[in-house]
Amino acid sequence: MRKKIIAGNWKMNMTPTEAKALCETLVPLIKGTKNEVVFCVPAVDVTTVVKAVKGSGIKVGGENIYFEDKGAFTGETSADMLLDAGAKYVILGHSERREYFKETDADINKKVLKALEKGLTPILCCGESLEQREQGITIDWIRMQLKIALQGVSAEQAKGMVIAYEPIWAIGTGKTATTAQAEEVCKAIRLLIQELYDRKTANAIRIQYGGSVNAKNAAELFAEPDIDGGLVGGASLKADFGTVATA
Ligand code: 13P
Repeated sequence: MRKKIIAGNWKMNMTPTEAKALCETLVPLIKGTKNEVVFCVPAVDVTTVVKAVKGSGIKVGGENIYFEDKGAFTGETSADMLLDAGAKYVILGHSERREYFKETDADINKKVLKALEKGLTPILCCGESLEQREQGITIDWIRMQLKIALQGVSAEQAKGMVIAYEPIWAIGTGKTATTAQAEEVCKAIRLLIQELYDRKTANAIRIQYGGSVNAKNAAELFAEPDIDGGLVGGASLKADFGTVATA
């Protein structure tokens, strides 16, 4: 049985002071859940959040890393920096990074390899635009994104990873994919993993759905056989996340 993993993606929200207050609200609401819960937070908040969730079982992640170890890369965060600050996870290849910061599949592949080398667990994002869905190329597109992002990743490494399927048209729009649409793509992702690796790896890897997940729709989505939890934006910034994380 795969353990469900529910991650909040705070995006560019929460100062350290606000982050501490949000943790004080959320930690008691999440206590005792059988799910794995991760707060993926801005790099500058990691230390504060690690301290604020201590003893609760909640894990902390970053929202991005650069693929070099260190050096003259002004403004970037390394895997070692996140790890030393206490993070265990990192979101990679989010559609906002692809769109606004021009990250390519090849960049994302380098970041995935670096995270794995250092011992950070990637939450690797993929997802189609509305135009691609309407053209009927959703599954082809996602297979391509993942095939590139997973180049050079071993079965052993893939087993521990998390893949987040986030249709771009469902992000921040309040327009959630239907449960059937979300399950169809998550199932196709699991089949791709079986094709690239083997059945054991496909059964072990966790696949999340993301895009307008909220306190009302989370339980139904997470009950699908191939949806092992969610990557949650807006609803992770308020008390509703207590309901989502324990669904
Ligand atoms: P929303 O939950 O706000 O739609 O954001 C989803 C997302 O992008 C999580 O990474």
